[in-house]
Amino acid sequence: MKLVNMKEMLIKARKEGYAVGQFNINNLEWTKSVLVAAKESNSPVILGVSEGAAKYMGGFKTIVGMVEGLLEYYEVTVPVALHLDHGSYDGAKNAIDAGFSSVMFDGSHYDIEENKQKTTEIVEYAKLKDISVEAEVGSIGGEEDGVVGTGEVADAEECRMIAGLGIDTLAAGIGNIHGKYPENWTGLNFEALGKIQDSTDGMPLVLHGGTGIPEDMIKEAISLGVSKINVNTECQLVFAEATRKYVEAGKDLEGKGFDPRKLLAPGSQAVVDIVKVKMDLFGSTNKA
Ligand code: 13P
Repeated sequence: MKLVNMKEMLIKARKEGYAVGQFNINNLEWTKSVLVAAKESNSPVILGVSEGAAKYMGGFKTIVGMVEGLLEYYEVTVPVALHLDHGSYDGAKNAIDAGFSSVMFDGSHYDIEENKQKTTEIVEYAKLKDISVEAEVGSIGGEEDGVVGTGEVADAEECRMIAGLGIDTLAAGIGNIHGKYPENWTGLNFEALGKIQDSTDGMPLVLHGGTGIPEDMIKEAISLGVSKINVNTECQLVFAEATRKYVEAGKDLEGKGFDPRKLLAPGSQAVVDIVKVKMDLFGSTNKA
C-alpha cells in the first residue's frame, strides 16, 4: 500500500465518531512499532515527524524511503499517512517535495493575518500534489526549560477564518499541552472546543498533547469533533521504562544481550503495546 494523505481517513473518522492517532516517530524501531500496531489493530494511522526528528533521522527523504520500504516489507494494507508535525513554512514545502503525504503548517505564532497568508500559500502548494494540510490556531502549551506554559485557547472566529482556507484539519489550542501535564492542570476547555466545532462547519479537529489526557476527556473531545489525536511523549516514556528494566535486570550482560536487536526489543514492543491501547481508546481499531 502506498502512503495516503489524511483527508479520507479524517472525514471517515469524523463521520463515524472516532479519532485517528498520530504517533510521532524517532527512528527505525519506532516506525516499525507503530506500523506493526496499526496492522495488528487493523487501524488507519498517521506517522508524525517533527522537524527536529527529521534532522535526527537524516532528513525528509531518508524518512520517506524508510517508511515506504517498511510498508512494502511488512505488507501493510491499512491507510498510513506520513505527516510533518508543527512544520515551518519552508519545512512544509520541503517535506512535500520529499514525498510526505501530509503536512502541518504551524502558523500559530504569527499574527492571524500572517497565519492566514502563509497557510493559504502552503495549501496551494500542497494541493498540487494532493497532500493534506493541518493548520493551527492558538498555540499548544508545553514545558520548555522548566517553564510550563498553560496552552493558549483558540479564538473560534480565528478558527473559522483558518478553516475556510482549504485545509483538511485544524489544530486548535483548548488548554492542551505537549509533554506531561502538570499537577495543577485544569483540563481541556470543552466550552471553547464546542464553540470551535460550531464555527468550523464539520471540519475534523486535532488534539495535540495526547499524552496523559484522561480517558473521559479523550472521549468527550472526540464527541465534539476531534478526529485526530497526537501522541508522542507517552511512547517515549514506555520505551525508556522497558529499556531501563532490561538494563537494570542485567540482561545486556547475559550472552549477546548487548546486541541492539535484543537491547531495543523490549522498548519496541512497549511502543507496539501502547499504540494498540491508544487505538482502542480512540476508537480507530478495525476502522482501516
Ligand atoms: P505529547 O508529546 O504530549 O503526546 O504531544 C504530542 C503532540 O502533540 C505532537 O504534535
